[in-house]
Amino acid sequence: MAPLKNDRYLKALLKEPVDVTPVWMMRQAGRYLPEYKATRAQAGDFMSLCKNAELACEVTLQPLRRYELDAAILFSDILTIPDAMGLGLYFEAGEGPKFESPLSSQSQIDALPIIDPEQELGYVMNAVRTIRRELKGSVPLIGFSGSPWTLATYMIEGGSSKAFTKIKKMAFAEPAALHSLLDKLADAVVLYLNAQIAAGAQSVMVFDTWGGVLSPRDYKLFSLQYMHKIVDGLTRENEGRRVPVTLFTKNGGMWLEAIADTGCDAVGLDWTIDIAEARARIGNKVALQGNMDPSMLYAQPERIEQEVQSILAGYGSGSGHVFNLGHGIHLDVPPEHAGVFVDAVHRFSRQYHQG
Ligand code: CP3
Repeated sequence: MAPLKNDRYLKALLKEPVDVTPVWMMRQAGRYLPEYKATRAQAGDFMSLCKNAELACEVTLQPLRRYELDAAILFSDILTIPDAMGLGLYFEAGEGPKFESPLSSQSQIDALPIIDPEQELGYVMNAVRTIRRELKGSVPLIGFSGSPWTLATYMIEGGSSKAFTKIKKMAFAEPAALHSLLDKLADAVVLYLNAQIAAGAQSVMVFDTWGGVLSPRDYKLFSLQYMHKIVDGLTRENEGRRVPVTLFTKNGGMWLEAIADTGCDAVGLDWTIDIAEARARIGNKVALQGNMDPSMLYAQPERIEQEVQSILAGYGSGSGHVFNLGHGIHLDVPPEHAGVFVDAVHRFSRQYHQG
């Protein structure tokens, strides 16, 4: 494999010195880019795009052609695991993801198959291998998965939700059933992420989009415990380098210390916590990723640059910060504003790094 030309993303995650702060954007491949919409139209629909390694590679690389991003992220979705388990994922225009056969009972949970990632999810591993080849060592490739709790919300609610009443009903009325599902999902995520690492992912991230809808005690019980199990099961070194793992719980700012205690390398932050406060609380334990409000990309360029500067100043000097949005980029932001954001991170961060 070609040596990495730009490894500042991996270095920052391990708090090793960097020249400037690395930056990438959650959902950097997506509908805000006209070229993405054209490739998706060519594929037919979103899942066909995910299942075609060449086209998934093409959309992964599109944002890297436009912007000086320091990492690529695999083009796929967190819902590939429940789809492979037989729940029947589909997308309805404007309504987000849905499942044909959501889960509601212990017997359905017991019947879920164990997934061999190189078989049922072989299309994801093919995409990872294709992207690694085409990146030609320019920047590292991030692999990812959903957290067990977040995957379970979709599997039990049957799609997106606002109040999460079905999964909470199971959590509080039939906790043993939900724990058996979360435990199965944690095992599946370990196999899935380790297969992505073996196929060439140089870092992995766990998206816990919905952990923040739980009380502090229930977050630890139903979400964090299973992410901890994942961290414990991951391959931490490959190709002679550490494979850093980032945990991102949206709205998880209250629980930073507990998240850092899992043994992860970095914690992802949304914009509801001040990054200066996060660094003060976490010290040197883990790196931090984040955390500009994605809606700031609607603002004028000067306002975006100002916001980037205050977040950089908030983190302060030294390595250990990967700049990102606090959640995925919105589909209707002007693509040029994403460029302003990426350039500003590099331009204004040099002063915080030595040498
Ligand atoms: O970041 C990237 O560029 C990599 C690709 C990526 C996608 N989804 C592509 C996608 C990643 C990392 C995800 C993760 C994901 N998927 C999460 C966790 C992160 C988060 O945003 O909180 C969640 C909750 C999902 C589930 C999911 N998939 C949702 C809620 C949606 C949006 C539905 C909609 O219509 O807006 C998807 C579909 C999806 N995944 C799209 C993309 C680019 C849009 C599909 C399209 O092209 O129509």
